[in-house]
Amino acid sequence: CGIVGYIGQRNATDVVVGGLQRLEYRGYDSAGIAILGAEGLQLRRSVGKLANLITRLASEPAAGSVGMGHTRWATHGGVTEINAHPHRDASGEIVVIQNGIVENYLELKGRLMEAGHTFLSQTDTEVIAHLVGVYFQQTGSLETAVRHAMADLRGGNAVVALCIHAPDTLVAARLGNAGGVVIGLGEDETFIASDIPAILDYTRDLIFLEDRDLAVITREGARITRLDGTPVTRPITNISWDPVAAAKGDFKHFMQKEIAEQPRALTDVLRGRIDQEAGQVFLDDLKLDTNALRRIDRIYATACGTAWHAGLMAKFMIEHFARVRVEVDYASEFRYREPVLGADALLLAITQSGETVDTLAAMEEARTQGVPSIALVNAIGSQAARVADGGPLYLHAGPEIGVASTKAFTSMLAASYLFALYLGQARGTLTPNQIRPHLQALIELPGKVAQVLESAAPICVQLADRFHHATNALFLGRQANYPIALEGALKLKEISYIHAEGYPAGEMKHGPVALIDEHMPVICIAPRDGIYEKMLSNIEQVKARGGEVIAIGSQGDDLLAAKASHVITVPSTLPLLQPILTVIPLQLLAYEVAVRRGCDVDQPRNLAKSVTVE
Ligand code: G6P
Repeated sequence: CGIVGYIGQRNATDVVVGGLQRLEYRGYDSAGIAILGAEGLQLRRSVGKLANLITRLASEPAAGSVGMGHTRWATHGGVTEINAHPHRDASGEIVVIQNGIVENYLELKGRLMEAGHTFLSQTDTEVIAHLVGVYFQQTGSLETAVRHAMADLRGGNAVVALCIHAPDTLVAARLGNAGGVVIGLGEDETFIASDIPAILDYTRDLIFLEDRDLAVITREGARITRLDGTPVTRPITNISWDPVAAAKGDFKHFMQKEIAEQPRALTDVLRGRIDQEAGQVFLDDLKLDTNALRRIDRIYATACGTAWHAGLMAKFMIEHFARVRVEVDYASEFRYREPVLGADALLLAITQSGETVDTLAAMEEARTQGVPSIALVNAIGSQAARVADGGPLYLHAGPEIGVASTKAFTSMLAASYLFALYLGQARGTLTPNQIRPHLQALIELPGKVAQVLESAAPICVQLADRFHHATNALFLGRQANYPIALEGALKLKEISYIHAEGYPAGEMKHGPVALIDEHMPVICIAPRDGIYEKMLSNIEQVKARGGEVIAIGSQGDDLLAAKASHVITVPSTLPLLQPILTVIPLQLLAYEVAVRRGCDVDQPRNLAKSVTVE
């Protein structure tokens, strides 16, 4: 979900709607705003795209200098206008928006209903609004009312409240990691947002609320206290990045642009971090010194979605170069399995947005067990970057807008490779002489990615023409290309809604082989590596059952070309870097197929770019 708030001299509707537009990439299913002005408190809400809300505002305008807005991704209650935020309290004089989840909302709702409250929506947010209303009746202060209401909530969320009796104030509060709150300071105006890009057009002086902070926001700025009332000072951070970089330019879709940007993104992840002549890697953003790195005896790579696939790759890399054992967990599973982390463990959180609530919760679990964490993270200043006590290792891939991750994924792989080399260097498992060829291969990688983009693009167009009506697809790979099979399948299903599965090719005979017939395209990732021959026999097994094989292989591999129905080749590189090249055709294929199926490539249905609910 996205949150924007404003108080100042401008028309709040413009600022709030403009801010929500900047957050569109995060994915949502409905949107709404509340504006306080000469005509009182006005709510406008719509389901679907923000354009629907804008159309609504054209016929029913709302003007005022205080307001807030929200884009919702349904958790409690279906996608309806009634369930869209903002929600009102019983008096109708207080409105609330929320990011996150109230875990005990049924209990709270029950209590309020016994006291005579009726609810219009099925949402947990309406319960917060009513609670704030009750406490406002008792105390006459919006700040105190929000404070009391927050004390009743279990879960994690960010809340913003507005009351007609306090027209010069917005109150924002944050509980847990489910939603960030950033406050932007301007001249006689103040902004609130869940994410920095929403307000970057207006100000670059930002204050980040911490877990259990509450802010009273006026035109003059923000007064921050802890939820228990203790005053605190939070630093003002000046952010210097360029929002124009996020624009789509000449591309039809952000995803297409981001796929094309990979050579640049991979150059940026290396920039300033390697010395080829000395055979050395520098990761200056990390805060763990050599002694700390030497002590590590186990690493937990935790992440969600595409980033989890990067975690699977990081395991290969770290175990190979630094000889430290790595366990890979879905962040959503991690903390609930009561992990026994051990004294000398390290948590490696991998996340594009740095805001994924499950990944943040995994970091929190590590922290409570006294285990440091490092975040491989793209979004500068994001939550994961700030809470990683071992330091953020920034991907520097630039803003990724398309919901389906592409350039962030390949940057995660390159950053994991750098981290694995760095760890090997610190622990003495790699000498500069051994590191040097890896740095050379990394340096050559962006050029090779550019070659694949060029050579694979026309083939993927043809393949998409042929296969876009398919209802199922199977992706097979082994070893380092097994995570790529998973990623290829995820890309296709996310944006084209074709059912797709990734499988380790050797495991195919234990199940998926039963699905193979002439209607099943089977994408086999088979570069010439240590397991190549085995992949060839797997391809034979697919063919024997009538499956149509699309192979991703090494340049000049005539044998593979003879066996497969279609081949896309990629240049060779070192084995653990090969996946950065083999994944590119899979991204292109998913994109072209989705376009042909008329899908909303950048904002696929039901998905969100950053998932701030459990
Ligand atoms: C969502 C996105 C995926 C992403 C995942 C993890 O599901 O749709 O593209 O891989 O979240 O996001 P993160 O920001 O933590 O990498």
